[in-house]
Amino acid sequence: MSILTVATVPFAGQRPGTSGLRKKVTEFLQPGYLENFVEAIFNTLGDCRGKTLVVGGDGRYFNRTATGIIVRMAAAHGFARVLVGQNGILSTPAVSCVIRKHGAFGGLILSASHNPGGPDGDFGIKYNGDNGGPAPEKFTDAVYAATGTLAQYRISDAAAPALDAIGSTQFDGMQVEVIDSVADYAALMGELFDFPAIARLFASGFTMRYDGMHAVGGPYAHAIFESMLGAPAGTVINGTPLEDFGGHHPDPNPVSAAELIDIMFGADAPDFGAASDGDADRNMIVGRALAVTPSDSLAILAANATIAPGYRDGLRGIARSMPTSTAADRVARALGIPSYETPTGWKYFGNLLDAGMATLCGEESYGTGSNHIREKDGIWAILFWLNLLAATNKPVDTIVREHWARFGRNYYSRHDYEAVEVAPAEAMMAQLRERVATLAGTQLGSFTVALADDFAYTDPVDHALATGQGIRIVMTDGSRIVFRLSGTGTEGATVRLYLEQYEADPARHERDPQQALAPLAAIAEQLSQLQSRTGRSTPTVIT
Ligand code: G1P
Ligand code: ZN
Repeated sequence: MSILTVATVPFAGQRPGTSGLRKKVTEFLQPGYLENFVEAIFNTLGDCRGKTLVVGGDGRYFNRTATGIIVRMAAAHGFARVLVGQNGILSTPAVSCVIRKHGAFGGLILSASHNPGGPDGDFGIKYNGDNGGPAPEKFTDAVYAATGTLAQYRISDAAAPALDAIGSTQFDGMQVEVIDSVADYAALMGELFDFPAIARLFASGFTMRYDGMHAVGGPYAHAIFESMLGAPAGTVINGTPLEDFGGHHPDPNPVSAAELIDIMFGADAPDFGAASDGDADRNMIVGRALAVTPSDSLAILAANATIAPGYRDGLRGIARSMPTSTAADRVARALGIPSYETPTGWKYFGNLLDAGMATLCGEESYGTGSNHIREKDGIWAILFWLNLLAATNKPVDTIVREHWARFGRNYYSRHDYEAVEVAPAEAMMAQLRERVATLAGTQLGSFTVALADDFAYTDPVDHALATGQGIRIVMTDGSRIVFRLSGTGTEGATVRLYLEQYEADPARHERDPQQALAPLAAIAEQLSQLQSRTGRSTPTVIT
């Protein structure tokens, strides 16, 4: 077998976004498109000889083919060993776990997360480094630059190895190890959480419904919740990964996971509901007739972290992305630990976790995680809640309401305007950027603006500066309006409007969030003319 050097020409637009390169499958299917991007990554890494690479994805359409191409290219670039999930399947958190556990050089994750799959859907690829986390911007910028000048890529001419059976084979001078997709990850979960207590909870008749959304979480949930923890069969629904996720949007929010919400809000609802997304790094937590806001979930886990064996010694700090509600900051203050506000995207948590400055991290977009790996982690968050439910013997809604009573409630909602025209969306952001410069100290409705800016972040560890991370308008009472353009969409522009209002008075904690936030929404519209500019009278999705 030999190494082929294949002539190629650069593809425009191979710039990684919030989380890797995400494009329509049709774009990825162009000959050389994936190969060019992988070549750019390997060239940016430099000398790959003798190193170990992890490869896996969420099982969406093109996952298996892409895995084969990557393995053949890894052999051509001199990697000594590739660890591949069985059938090319590894959740994003599992890749992070496997990289760390096996001391790999890095890993390639094949996923477009919560974006739809199938031949007409999306595909994605990103590189994670030896800490198990998404490569920093410095690296992804270099990869993008490399994609612009490629003239050739290298690939083994051998046929891609079979990935069906667990075991090790030699492949063109490289060792290919097909690993159990779940085992390493499940072992780590067993170290962090009180599995015997959770098993006793299930044995006592506690009921749960986990919606795998036909995505990669299913195999992990079957193994951990049903086989290891003894939850009855049927606890996991939609648990078989499908290449097109059954035609659904594999995003665990009340809109996309409507089936689970119907179950949890119906008669005879189970005690606990949960879901994860395409690559199982996101989570949604649902009690009987109550969907827990992700920002609240982060705050609640932080406030109760010491119930879990892995966090018994307490937390070093809590980090949240800027648009995420400030509920977790209140917990950090009460615990006497630092809190950090980072730009959107998990990669910004990496340095804080590596430096031991933060233990828990979270994003409003249904992402929660900790220093156990360097990705957000859906199954982990669900296990944390199960551990909390087992330790307190209280239902989800009681835990949430007691939290609000102690810390106050941060009413919170995100309004997404998807696939709008790029030019008016960018014009709106530009106008807002100008406007916020003079907003501080002014009156907006019943609010007074304390601070308004285009969020910029200096990483406290490596001092890297990230600018233009979203328009933030913070009121003197802590209420906030945030505007951002999505960095993960694959069609036009997506405008995200985030609204947050703090309410200390427990007598006012049972309001409908959209009603509670209506005054802020009106101010946001008045400032931005979002709806008239985009020609939309309502958001595409409200979470
Ligand atoms: C979205 C979320 C963000 C998350 C990212 C990857 O990015 O808003 O919190 O980190 O997906 O899951 P966005 O499309 O807003 O750039
Ligand atoms: Zn995801």
